[in-house]
Amino acid sequence: MTQRTLAIIKPDAVSKGAAGAILSKIEQAGFKVLAAKLIQMSFDDAAGFYAVHRPRPFFKSLCTFMTQGPCIPMVLEADNGIQKWRDLMGATDPAKAAAGTIRKEFASSVEANAVHGSDAPETAAFEIAYFFSALEIH
Ligand code: CMP
Repeated sequence: MTQRTLAIIKPDAVSKGAAGAILSKIEQAGFKVLAAKLIQMSFDDAAGFYAVHRPRPFFKSLCTFMTQGPCIPMVLEADNGIQKWRDLMGATDPAKAAAGTIRKEFASSVEANAVHGSDAPETAAFEIAYFFSALEIH
């Protein structure tokens, strides 16, 4: 089933100049990039996006990290796209990420982990609409 997911190239990856290499991996894996933009989030933008994590001890630090520089949210589409993107990202903790995954190659910690991906169809719908209007998705 063709499925859309929300991906973010996070500020750590953008600032180290890894956005191009990550986008190349995304294209080589067969995803269609339906939307993409470079943005700088405020703390409140990040807090709204990560609202489900508000009770977690790392919430404030995560929101601060996401505002430290520009990031690139994208809408990706592929067959079984949500799981396919999670597989390409690798585990949240780069120490546990498999060889060949983006996080294994580009992440430096469980927080500064290079990329984000939606974890289910409901969260993908919320996350895509958080960053993109229907007119921005091609
Ligand atoms: P992401 O896939 O964007 O979803 C939530 C984010 O919170 C996650 O990637 C990490 O950047 C961050 N995160 C998850 N667990 C921890 C943790 N234990 N400590 C710090 N940050 C975390």
